[in-house]
Amino acid sequence: MKQYITQDPWKIIEDHFHPEHNKITESLCSIGNGKMGGRGNFEEQYSGDTLQGSYYAGIYYPDKTKVGWWKNGYPEYFAKVLNGCNWIGLNITIGDEVLDLHLAKINSFHRELNMQTGLLKRSCTVILKNNAEVTINSERFCSLDNDELGCINYQMGVKNFTGTIKIESVLDFDISNEDSNYDLKFWEEVQASDEDGIYNQAITKKTKFQLGLAASHTITHNGAIVNRESTTRKEKFISSNFIIDSKNESNIQLHKYVGVCSSFYYDPSELQSKAIAHSKEASKVGYETLLERHTARWNEKWNESDIEILGDVGAQQGIRFNIFHLNQTYTGQDERLNIGPKGFTGEKYGGSTYWDTEAYCIPFYLSTADQQVSKNLLKYRHNHLRKAIENAEKLGFEKGAALYPMVTINGEECHNEWEITFEEIHRNGAIAFAIYNYIRYTGDTEYLKTHGLDVLFAIARFWAQRVNYSNAKNKYVMLGVTGPNEYENNVNNNWYTNYIASWCLQYCIAAIKDVENEFPESISEIFARNNFTKNETTHWKDVIQNMYYPTDESLGIFLQQDNFLDKDQTVVSELDPKHLPLNQNWSWDRILRSVYIKQADVLQGLYFFEDHFDIDTIKRNFEYYEPRTVHESSLSPCVHVILANLLEKDEKAYEMYLRTSRLDLDDYNNDTEDGLHITSMAGTWMSIVQGFGGMRVKNDHIYFNPRLPKNWENLSFKIKFRSSLLTIKISQSEIELTNDSKQGITILIADQSINLYAHETKVHTI
Ligand code: BGC
Repeated sequence: MKQYITQDPWKIIEDHFHPEHNKITESLCSIGNGKMGGRGNFEEQYSGDTLQGSYYAGIYYPDKTKVGWWKNGYPEYFAKVLNGCNWIGLNITIGDEVLDLHLAKINSFHRELNMQTGLLKRSCTVILKNNAEVTINSERFCSLDNDELGCINYQMGVKNFTGTIKIESVLDFDISNEDSNYDLKFWEEVQASDEDGIYNQAITKKTKFQLGLAASHTITHNGAIVNRESTTRKEKFISSNFIIDSKNESNIQLHKYVGVCSSFYYDPSELQSKAIAHSKEASKVGYETLLERHTARWNEKWNESDIEILGDVGAQQGIRFNIFHLNQTYTGQDERLNIGPKGFTGEKYGGSTYWDTEAYCIPFYLSTADQQVSKNLLKYRHNHLRKAIENAEKLGFEKGAALYPMVTINGEECHNEWEITFEEIHRNGAIAFAIYNYIRYTGDTEYLKTHGLDVLFAIARFWAQRVNYSNAKNKYVMLGVTGPNEYENNVNNNWYTNYIASWCLQYCIAAIKDVENEFPESISEIFARNNFTKNETTHWKDVIQNMYYPTDESLGIFLQQDNFLDKDQTVVSELDPKHLPLNQNWSWDRILRSVYIKQADVLQGLYFFEDHFDIDTIKRNFEYYEPRTVHESSLSPCVHVILANLLEKDEKAYEMYLRTSRLDLDDYNNDTEDGLHITSMAGTWMSIVQGFGGMRVKNDHIYFNPRLPKNWENLSFKIKFRSSLLTIKISQSEIELTNDSKQGITILIADQSINLYAHETKVHTI
């Protein structure tokens, strides 16, 4: 753990420079707006440890898969989110010395990300080798008001220096990914121009995405306007160069406005005019007004999604940090986009879509954004149905069975470890569960008719073919799988997978009935377009009734998989801490043989299907699995918060809450430098609202059963539920419910139901 970030309710603050943690701070200070984003790099050059990263939604490269031992069915490529044009760069030379914070002597330094306004700031004073004293005050944002615009306000004071200061403001596509094979570069030049400011356009190899960026500048030196001196053109690179004659003391003020347009949204021939229009318009409007507009949009976002915790600043900073990054990663307007586990903060995981979206992110967007946002996330998978069917066909499945990819950017599988690609099939279950969750939350059963059933049929068909009947057990079994706990591979009868498979079959049958009842006129067309006849459900029902679930009667628990109890049962607390995290200290085979669980697995099932089990069953399983869990997936602690709270295990719930909410802020897993864990941030939200708030949906009503950590005075959050907007305030003894909408609503609190008229507030003792 590293705790060098100052605790503050709204800001991420690094109050003096920690070069040894620079890549971590860069990740933490990433900014974005759903279409573009990048790490909290310095604008000027930096020769120390850094990952210069700028990322653009939807733009990827299918990098040739490199594996030693090829297996039939492996994907040809691993999709990489591309590190793209560096638009923030300001290369500064003072005399003949490059301004580089790695080489300069740093007298003072402060970097902060204001999460309330989405503004990244830095101020520092440094002394160069030529004795010049340079003070930098920089600010930057990716506009939420115009998501094709980035703005920089850079002020530089130079003392003790007489001579030439050169500022080279760049648009640089000569960039490669940190993780590219053989240092390959993925961008090729299309055109650059210096007619209106500067413009640079490049195209990706293979995928042929094009990106065009235009920058315009306003610069003053001691109040007088500075005009551009020259431009530099190199391959894939253009810069506007400004020369300043400094006589002992200079104050330089630079605004850089960058328009960013991609062929994801425009015809390539339009990119130049559109990007230039953005940058010119921005320089006309001016920095302050643009910042006000951007801040106003953040205000709106916070009005819908803020969570306030009184009495615990670390917890408060944690949850806002998570909400902030979720909101700037995915805005939900485009059903072709999804949420990569690292968002715009790094390259690991390729920027692709995982089951994280369905299992973790959808609940956050359901409660905090317009219904269309979650619907777009569901439609993303519906749009990929054909490819999921082809993927299953490659593996020998037939008749419309679909296996959705574990990792994808365009519907094709692009993960290439057999134990995950072929075996971590539980992801299909989460995709079905998300449809159920969406309909349970929104009441939008129409979605089943238009899209949902198509996906459910294909998933049900997959499970019906994936099981086999074991004569030895007289049950259906599922062999050779990897459950959510990736520290076990190729196991038989993973309880979670067997359970969710059977549930998918049941839910599909129930969904058919719902559509038959509500939309009788549509059902035959839905059957026909899916080539479905009801005879198929005979086998499904047999599987449902005869599925095998590994259990241990004496312990009263579900077994994560067959023979789980053969393992050495030393619990995590008895391990010497020097072994943790296991994935950085142990060989893979040692991990696989051990009892240690990477992330919630049986407990994930108990979380999804809480209503199917009595509280004692949940308790026994929690008490068995939790001490064996190392939480080396960021997705793990949030599930433990929710279950611990349900079981009134307050200390555990709070410990796990800090772990999920401050995972990146405190670098719990020693990997924040690679980028942030964006998808698990939605889990942090779940751990507050579903954990401490005890929110559920029961019988078409919103339900709360709150239980706050002892040190919290107050917790408040807003949620959208169907057509209502609610503010919930919870103290140690009361829950205050405010209905901010125009119609009444009935809310369930533990075993009572409370009616609230429009705009009414009621307080209930807990
Ligand atoms: C987890 C997976 C998850 C992936 C992306 C892995 O470490 O084990 O469950 O989907 O990260 O977040």
